[in-house]
Amino acid sequence: MQAATQMKRLALAGTAAQMTDISMQDLIIRRPDDWHLHLRDGDMLEAVLPHSSAHFSRAIIMPNLVPPVTDCASASAYRARIERALPKGHDFTPLMTLYLTETTDADDVVAGFESGVIRAVKLYPAGATTNSQSGVRDMEKVYPVLERMAQAGVPLCVHGEVTDPDVDIFDREAVFIERVLEPIRRRFPALRIVMEHITTQEGVAYVRDGAEGIGGTITTHHLIINRNAILVGGIRPHYYCLPIAKRESHRLALREAATSGNARFFLGTDSAPHLDPAKESACGCAGVFSSINTMACLAHVFEQEDALDMLEAFASLNGPGFYRLPVNEATMRLTRRETPVNLPDKIETKSGAVTVFDPMFPIYWDVDAKA
Ligand code: NCD
Ligand code: ZN
Repeated sequence: MQAATQMKRLALAGTAAQMTDISMQDLIIRRPDDWHLHLRDGDMLEAVLPHSSAHFSRAIIMPNLVPPVTDCASASAYRARIERALPKGHDFTPLMTLYLTETTDADDVVAGFESGVIRAVKLYPAGATTNSQSGVRDMEKVYPVLERMAQAGVPLCVHGEVTDPDVDIFDREAVFIERVLEPIRRRFPALRIVMEHITTQEGVAYVRDGAEGIGGTITTHHLIINRNAILVGGIRPHYYCLPIAKRESHRLALREAATSGNARFFLGTDSAPHLDPAKESACGCAGVFSSINTMACLAHVFEQEDALDMLEAFASLNGPGFYRLPVNEATMRLTRRETPVNLPDKIETKSGAVTVFDPMFPIYWDVDAKA
C-alpha cells in the first residue's frame, strides 16, 4: 500500500447501459482507530470488544467504570482485562485513560503518561452523564493537575456539558464552552484538549477556529440522527445518548466538519453499550452502541456527502496526528454492494441483549478489515 493511502476503484461493466450504473465501489483506507470508546467490563466487555477489535487498531478507552479508573494501577489492571478478552488473532491496542477527580494525583498522571500506561485524562463534570458521579464539581480543584498535564503534554479529553439544572439540556454544550472550556484554555494555553463527541455548531466552530492544540471527536450517530429520531412518533430510547442529539442545523455542521478533511476533527464512536432493559426503562441510560456498524455507516455518510476521499482522514489519520502516534500500516477495504448487507439488530451478552445503532437507512457497505 502506497503512502498515497487511498485508492478508489470503480468497477464498471462493459456495456453502455451498465456504464451509467456504478455497480460496485471499493475503497481502501488505512485501518481506523476509535478515539472515544466504552468497553465496560466483565460480560459486557467480552461481548462488545470483538466488534471494536475486528475493525479498529486502537481505541481510547473511557474510564467511567463503576468504580471509575482513577489511577494508573487500575488503568493497567483494566488494560490487562481488555487484553485477556481480546479474540485470538485480533490486533488491537487499548489506549487507557484516567478519570479525573478532585483528588487525582498529578505525579501518578505524569508518570503513567511518560511510561505509556495512559494516553489521556478524562474530565467529566460531576453528574454530566453515565457513571459521572465522581466527576469534577469545582474546576479550580483540578487546576494543579491540569498545570502538570500541560507541562508534560498529557491530553485532556473533555465531556463538554455543564450540569447546572438551570441550563437547558440542548444548550449544555454551548454553555460549557463559554463557562468552562475557554477559561481552562486561557489559563493553560499549552494544554492539549480534545472536545469529545461534539454535537453543535458552537462545538464545531470552537474546535475549527480555536487555538492550537485543540481537537474534536465526532460520533457516527451524531452525523446521522437529529433530535427528531429520539422524539418523533414515540420515544425511542436507543437514540438517547449524551450529549443529546441536537436540531438538524447542528447535524449538518457536524457533517461538514467530519468530511472537510480538517485535521482537528476525528472519529470517536462513543459506542456505549447498555443492556436493553436499562435503555428501555422509565429512566433509561444514555448511550448508543455502534462499534459493530460504525465503519459501514460512516462510508454511507461520506458517500452521501460526496466525500469518500475524506473518510480516511477522519477515521484513520487525524486522530493519530492529534495524539502524536504513528498511523496504522494495515488497511481496511470497504465495498459498496448492490443490495443491502445484513447486520444484526442486537448482540447477545451473557447478561442479556444490547441493541445496535439503527441508522434508519439500508447499509450497502461491506467492511473487510483484513484488506
Ligand atoms: C456514555 C456511557 O454510557 O458511558 N453515554 C453516552 O450517552 N455517551 C457516557 C458518555 O460518554 O457520556
Ligand atoms: Zn462516551
